[in-house]
Amino acid sequence: MNALVFHAVKSPLVLEVRPALAPAAGEVVVQLRAAALNRRDYWITQGMYPGIAPPVVLGSDGAGVVVRTGEGVDATWLGREVIVNPGLDWGDSQAAQSTRFNILGLPRDGTFAQEVAVPAAQLHDRPPHLDWREAAALPLAGVTAYRAVFSQGGLRRGETVLITGIGGGVATFALQFAVAAGANVYVTSSSDEKLARAAALGARGGFNYRDDAWAKRAAAEMPAPNLIVDSAGGPGYASLITLAAPGGRIVNYGATAGPPEKLDLFKVFWKQLRLQGSTMGSPADFAAMLAFVNEHQLKPIVDRTFPLSEGNQALAQMQTSPQFGKYVLTIAPNL
Ligand SMILES: NC(=O)c1ccc[n+]([C@@H]2O[C@H](COP(=O)([O-])OP(=O)(O)OC[C@H]3O[C@@H](n4cnc5c(N)ncnc54)[C@H](OP(=O)(O)O)[C@@H]3O)[C@@H](O)[C@H]2O)c1
Repeated sequence: MNALVFHAVKSPLVLEVRPALAPAAGEVVVQLRAAALNRRDYWITQGMYPGIAPPVVLGSDGAGVVVRTGEGVDATWLGREVIVNPGLDWGDSQAAQSTRFNILGLPRDGTFAQEVAVPAAQLHDRPPHLDWREAAALPLAGVTAYRAVFSQGGLRRGETVLITGIGGGVATFALQFAVAAGANVYVTSSSDEKLARAAALGARGGFNYRDDAWAKRAAAEMPAPNLIVDSAGGPGYASLITLAAPGGRIVNYGATAGPPEKLDLFKVFWKQLRLQGSTMGSPADFAAMLAFVNEHQLKPIVDRTFPLSEGNQALAQMQTSPQFGKYVLTIAPNL
């Protein structure tokens, strides 16, 4: 089987032929139809991720068909069309992951390959309304957005939410989820075109964060947000504290722009804000996310697809983030 293998930081992934995978006890082998990229894959190739241990097949997201089952696995999985929950060994607490938590695609070989071996407990049926590319785009970003918006963010119908950097894979899911939940959604982006695309998906307004006066405009043009969902941090974080409604929540699942330059704790306590971290999600979050996607018939936004052999080109695109939604690698021919 072909696999796109990470050997060294800042070196291209190498397409290699590897032996077909044999499932260990409790595991299955999924023949992948499509995989999807996450910023995590890019951070790893740049050496900006903990625990880098090459060689490893990157890729946390995949969708395909179960072709082999290991000892002790229910044989009815054979032939089923599945997606894979990439969060392994979450543990027993809904509040936070265990110290054993790890993510498919480092340290364990991931989905940028024709086959992946995973514990059977990670499998879920492919949502019937999604094609292979859409199904592959869902897992990691979908569960991260779901936990940030609902499990940690506690979003309720009628509330106002601000989602930053709307071109991001997780952010586009957060937008779709919040709109489906009946919230008033506003967004930020570095691109007016992406703001227009967000409006087409139901955002009520948007602000270009490259404009120094964006936060002043936002304060004047939108209700103060009850919930802010952010993955940038950095210098712009101070504006989020200023914009949040009294009693509001700010959920961070990333810090793409680094730590906040300043954290005005006076505003935090006087406004009774809650600053909340969030990372991917528990098995319960994943199941709830899937149920929500099925109930509302939501479709992941796939910006562009590349064949597996062009995975390096897809990763290179992530340097400047021109995307709106997800990059997908097609693995099966004629997809
Ligand atoms: N904790 C977790 O479990 C978890 C899970 C997934 C992702 N993450 C982290 O979350 C971040 C986003 O991940 P992703 O996969 O959604 O990435 P992505 O699809 O590559 O999205 C990147 C987007 O981030 C936005 N952005 C960049 N700099 C920004 C800034 N200064 N202010 C506001 N927005 C900015 C841009 O939006 P515009 O193009 O609209 O400007 C860009 O398109 C990454 O840091 C990632 O490592 C964490």
